[in-house]
Order: sequence, then C-alpha cells, then structure tokens
Amino acid sequence: MINKINRKFWAKKKVFITGHTGFKGSWLSIFLTYLGAEVTGYSLKPLTKPSLYKLANVDKVIKKSIIADVRDYKRLFKEIKNSNATILFHLAAQPLVRYSYLLPKETFDINVVGSLNILECVRKINKIKSTIIITTDKVYDNSKNKIFQETDRLGGIDPYSSSKVCVEHLFSSYHDSFFKRSSKQRLATVRAGNVIGGGDYSEDRLIPDIYRFAKYKKKIILRNPNSTRPWQHVLEPLSGYLLLAEKLAKNKILKVSQNWNFGPNISNCKSVKYIANYFAKSLKLKIKIAKNKSKDFKPETSYLRLSNFKARKLLKWSPRWSLNNSLNKIIEWNKDARKEGYKTICEKQIKNYLK
Ligand SMILES: NC(=O)c1ccc[n+]([C@@H]2O[C@H](COP(=O)([O-])OP(=O)(O)OC[C@H]3O[C@@H](n4cnc5c(N)ncnc54)[C@H](O)[C@@H]3O)[C@@H](O)[C@H]2O)c1
Repeated sequence: MINKINRKFWAKKKVFITGHTGFKGSWLSIFLTYLGAEVTGYSLKPLTKPSLYKLANVDKVIKKSIIADVRDYKRLFKEIKNSNATILFHLAAQPLVRYSYLLPKETFDINVVGSLNILECVRKINKIKSTIIITTDKVYDNSKNKIFQETDRLGGIDPYSSSKVCVEHLFSSYHDSFFKRSSKQRLATVRAGNVIGGGDYSEDRLIPDIYRFAKYKKKIILRNPNSTRPWQHVLEPLSGYLLLAEKLAKNKILKVSQNWNFGPNISNCKSVKYIANYFAKSLKLKIKIAKNKSKDFKPETSYLRLSNFKARKLLKWSPRWSLNNSLNKIIEWNKDARKEGYKTICEKQIKNYLK
C-alpha cells in the first residue's frame, strides 16, 4: 500500500501551518481541509500578486488565518497555544536564492530565528505531538555530483541554503537535547526537490517565469538551459509530510534519525531546457538562450539529486506522478482554474492524486 493517507486520522485534527499564504502552504491548507482537518494558518501576507492564497480564498477555506511574523515569538506562541493544534507544519521562509544574495540578513533572520521560535514554542506547548520543519534539497554539500542521502554532509553556500543548513543544525540540537527521549512529542525536518504545480507565481522559478513570458513576450528566455533539477509536483512532497506527521503522532518510526528526503525519482531529474520545450510546445512559444553577461550573476548548483530510499522503505511513500504527468497537471491547472474555480481545481487534482 503506497502513500495511503489515513483520512480518519486527519478528520477534525487541529493543525497549525506557518507559510499558509505561500505556494506550498496554500496547497497544504487545501489538502488538509480536503482531508477534514481544522487548519490555523500563520504567515505574512502573500508575497506575490496574484497568489494561490487569494485566488483560492484560502483564508475562507481554513478555520483561521493569522497575518503575522514568525520572528514575533510572543505572538507566535499565543497563536499556537490558542489553536489547540496537535500537529504543526513550519513552511514560512524567505525561500529564494537570488533574494538571499540581496537580503542576506533578512533571509537568515526569517529562516533561522523563525525556526528557533517554532522549536521553542513546541518545547513549551506539550499538546503538539508532531512537528514537521520544511528545509530544502539545497542543504547538502553539493561540491560532489551525487545522489544525496539524509546522512550526507550538509553545507550550503549561498545565504538561503546556508540559512536552511543552520535550521538543520538548530533542529538537531533541540531534537537531541529536548525531544529524543520524549514519548509525547516528535519532530522531523523534511527536504524536497524543486516543487512545481499550478498556482506558483514566485519570481525566479522556471514555470512561473514561462507563464509570465507567455503573457508578455511570447518567447521563453532561459538563463541556465542545461541545469538539471529534481522536479516534482507539489502534491508529492506534501503527501510525504502528511504520512510522516501521522506516523510521528502515533509514535511510530522512532529509531531512525528524523531527517527525511521526499525527492522525486531520478527519471524526474531533467534539464531546464526539457521543461521549457514541454511548455513551449503546449503554449506555442519560441525559446531563446540568454547570455549571462552580468558580473553579479551567481549561478545556482547545476546538478542536485535526492535519494528517497528512506521514505520509500520506512514510510512506504513513493512518488506517484511522472514528470510529464506533473507538467500536464500544471497545464490543465492554468487552462481551467479560472473557469472551474481555483480551490475546486486544486481539490480535483488532490482527489486524482489520492486515487
Ligand atoms: N518551492 C520549492 O521548490 C521549494 C523547494 C524546497 C524547499 N522549499 C521550502 O518550502 C517552504 C515553502 O516554500 P514556498 O515555495 O511555498 O514559498 P513561498 O514564497 O510561496 O511562501 C513562503 C511563505 O512564508 C511566509 N513568510 C515569509 N516570511 C515570513 C515571516 N517573517 N513571518 C511569517 N511568514 C513569513 C510567506 O508569507 C509565505 O506564506 C519554504 O520553507 C521553502 O524554503 C520550497
């Protein structure tokens, strides 16, 4: 039985999500509500215009939406306590590599202090049984071209990656100092690949850029056509986070380190050019390769792959959608969302994913 999400477990479960106004957080809010959970969200306002949060009216989908900063410890503590949540997902972050070069202090502040505040709240609020902290595949020391396992050395260089490495170290300290021997509270960090899906409007991400090109320039301009990424539909890692949160809440899978990769299969690791060609065909666009003349240009790692062996073996989690199927889902989402309703199309794809 693969990716069997237990609807009975999630029905009426009180869940606290940070970053619920973002791309992954909006999908997670809709996913959890679809499963019957009562979600409280805590984040800054959506950072993009448009945003899936606004389009799908996520504030009305979930039980309570709080617009506040994860760096505000007092407020965060109060809201987690008031929510009576037993499960917590921490997604709030400054997640863009390029911005992390422009705003390094803010990136470290939000990502590290925000996570520290979450860990401290969880330490003091015993009611929270299961906590999932979202980091990234960029936490690995990627000087070697290899498939990264959970046990591999960490070491991000750009401020975003480094801030997430700090979160992993912070997590290890809190976990081993305060939670390792606890029979009541379980925590984990999770690392996913390059997450794609309908409703992502972030800057500096390939597929949102392609749709912006389609709207304004009719030509896709690529900076790093040969970079290969572990692409995966957003529902893949989210299903992994849900399975893990449930197992932790039930005190299962304890005798292993609590860092988990939810990357796609190797067949999903394809070049930027492959993805662009796929959309170019469907959207009838041309592709142009840009020359990187700027001396400020800082390329991202050209090759990143995650091993998902541990999650497959111990959680019975496995990716369900091939890359082409995931890309088709994005094309469908962008074609039909306005007509069908943004929340409805997300729910339709969730239902289809769970089939
Ligand atoms: N999208 C990907 O490909 C990907 C890959 C690996 C990891 N991640 C991680 O997943 C998480 C979610 O990413 P996303 O793609 O949804 O990003 P996003 O930019 O769409 O969402 C970020 C969320 O964090 C919130 N936020 C930012 N600063 C905050 C603050 N100071 N206080 C409260 N909330 C704040 C925003 O309001 C938003 O809700 C992040 O932790 C990111 O690092 C994303």
